[in-house]
Amino acid sequence: MRIRAEQGDITTARVDAIVNAANSSLLGGGGVDGAIHAAAGPRLLEACRELRRTTLPAGLAVGDAVATPGFDLPARWVVHTVGPNRHAGETDPALLTSCFTRSLDVAAEVGARTVALPAVSAGVYGWAPDDVAAIAVRAVHGWDEAHPGRIDEVRFVLFNAPVLAAFEAALATARRH
Ligand code: APR
Repeated sequence: MRIRAEQGDITTARVDAIVNAANSSLLGGGGVDGAIHAAAGPRLLEACRELRRTTLPAGLAVGDAVATPGFDLPARWVVHTVGPNRHAGETDPALLTSCFTRSLDVAAEVGARTVALPAVSAGVYGWAPDDVAAIAVRAVHGWDEAHPGRIDEVRFVLFNAPVLAAFEAALATARRH
């Protein structure tokens, strides 16, 4: 698996699946969630409402993931995950690890070979970018070791320079070990 970090807007990523930092309602929000819904168009919200009417009546649990089509996005799929909210006392790193591993599980299940990931929980949900980067890189490496050859490329797509720097540092550290 190729793993890289880049600065950009995840809604424009030309990959098979992009991961959305959603909330448990799956009914949209701000940040990357808002950007993805705006770029995917109203059919994305309708698909999320259908999930709430059927398989996810109580919404999506923190650390879990679910796929929908990408509709108007370049990406064929959106994998929605719910990060831990530090402001709500959700400080267990295992919850954030699960966001990344479950997102890759779900992306692999729909047949995605390239996946773009944002810095889940590093915005509204208040986690420190350095912590998110370390957890995310460790989670993706661990997933790749457990699922060799299942996904060809993971791109961390970061919205600003400080978060990009955090992920580049985490990737450099991982390469040294
Ligand atoms: N592309 C890539 N990254 C983005 C984009 C974008 N278009 N927009 C924002 N980001 C970055 C933020 O700068 C931050 O580093 O995504 C990271 C995650 O920030 P949030 O989107 O705020 O997500 P999170 O911290 O997980 O909070 C989720 O916010 O938007 C609501 O509905 C969402 O309630 C949920 C909560």
